[in-house]
Amino acid sequence: MIGTGYVGLVTGTCFAELGHRVICVDMDKSKIDSLNAGGIPIYEPGLKELVRKNRKLKRIRFSTSIKEGVEASEIIFIAVNTPPLPDGGADLSFVEACTREVAQYANGYKLLVEKSTVPVQTGERVKQTLAMLGHSANNIEVASNPEFLREGSAIQDFLKPDRIVVGVQSKKAEKHLRELYAKIKCPMVVTDINSAELIKHASNSFLALKISYINAISHICEKVGADVSRVAEGMGLDSRIGKSFLSAGIGYGGSCFPKDVSAFIKIAEANGYDFSLLKKTEEINVDQRLLVVKKMEQALWTLKGKVIAVLGLAFKPNTDDLRNAPAIDIIRELLARGAVVKACDPVAAEKTKALFPKIEYCDTALEAAQGAHGLLLVTEWADFRKLNLAKLKSAMATPVVVDGRNMFDPLQMAQKGFVYHSIGRPAVARLDAKPVKPLVGKPS
Ligand code: NAD
Ligand code: UGA
Repeated sequence: MIGTGYVGLVTGTCFAELGHRVICVDMDKSKIDSLNAGGIPIYEPGLKELVRKNRKLKRIRFSTSIKEGVEASEIIFIAVNTPPLPDGGADLSFVEACTREVAQYANGYKLLVEKSTVPVQTGERVKQTLAMLGHSANNIEVASNPEFLREGSAIQDFLKPDRIVVGVQSKKAEKHLRELYAKIKCPMVVTDINSAELIKHASNSFLALKISYINAISHICEKVGADVSRVAEGMGLDSRIGKSFLSAGIGYGGSCFPKDVSAFIKIAEANGYDFSLLKKTEEINVDQRLLVVKKMEQALWTLKGKVIAVLGLAFKPNTDDLRNAPAIDIIRELLARGAVVKACDPVAAEKTKALFPKIEYCDTALEAAQGAHGLLLVTEWADFRKLNLAKLKSAMATPVVVDGRNMFDPLQMAQKGFVYHSIGRPAVARLDAKPVKPLVGKPS
């Protein structure tokens, strides 16, 4: 497994759990040192225990040497990062670099599998590079096996997937991959490499599209006094639509959807297709992110000098990943408008300190709310769901809550005395518990 990040470490560990012998390689020495010392460089529920178990069973080891990994392996996964370039395209330089290294150390037949998310036709480029370095498909064969795990539930997603997709150019490669995944019971889609690469971008982009669609609906809901949660429920019960990825809120973040949607737009453009549907998906998502700041500002009249508690920093619950986390843009905007920010996150606060060293970090939500004029819910961690609302209200200077994830119940919030705004649901004010006029229509 070349690349021992969120995907490489989870995938490598799960392959070990399935009984295979795995070498996880990374050029980041601090990551490998930490793993060899029994640590875990990321927060992912259940991962620490699984790594520990499989290290003990000697089914997984960690190294900084690609040479060691390549020489000892029959199947080599590329699980390196494919970050966005300034123009939105995918930066494939890490994929290219490890292709060259594999070519350098290959000592017999190797199946080289793309696990990283890559634009369609990357497999072609990998093959060309290998050919230029003197390797034929008899020697190093290329395949695609995109990964569909979600951070926060990665192990479960890997071991119990909806489907496994493999793109291959020979029966031999298919056989290897079928054997590798033999213990996982789910449909396997076997296709050509281009189609497998496309399945990954098309799936992530479709999920992002679903989120932007429901966020667009949330604007109409606010204008007419409807409730987007009920609309989503009513839509989602249609099995053709499905319930998942219809939660309106501050939009999608993380290291995948934003970069994969823009990379898909870019590769479509390079092939002569203007993917305007996805351009609109991105636009809606960008607007959605700062809508909560606007709502807070309108509720408090001005943000200058106001203390705002920000609950949740990671891009979603159960991860410490801050890549493209909405909280970063939101905190930046709050600070730009003169607010004083107090932040709280069960696991991502330490990482956030590097980005915002001057804001106050609190261990608990109640601490963050102490003296705050407004509370902004950014990430729906389970801990925040269990908040004692009476204590929360008495801690705050003014009980204004803007809920970017529609986590709280509007009527309950009103009954507890909050001025409460969420996304695509009628706003409610304390005392009368009746819907009030929406504060914000379309963000400017
Ligand atoms: P990451 O940044 O966490 O990990 C990538 C690792 O690769 C880093 O540790 C880096 O040091 C290492 N690396 C880069 N070049 C290397 C080289 N030449 N030799 C050795 N190590 C090298 O990234 P990630 O989140 O694990 O994502 C990896 C890929 O998987 C991306 O293409 C991503 O889109 C895709 N993906 C990610 C997820 C997810 O949930 N994070 C899910 C599915 C697919
Ligand atoms: C996503 C996909 O779900 C995985 O299948 C895929 O493997 C991965 O990207 C990837 O390619 O790397 P992930 O980004 O870890 O996984 O997390 P998701 O649960 O998909 O959430 C993505 C973002 O969408 C989060 O910011 C989340 O808050 C947001 N979201 C999700 C919504 O705003 N509404 C929803 O209804 C669902």
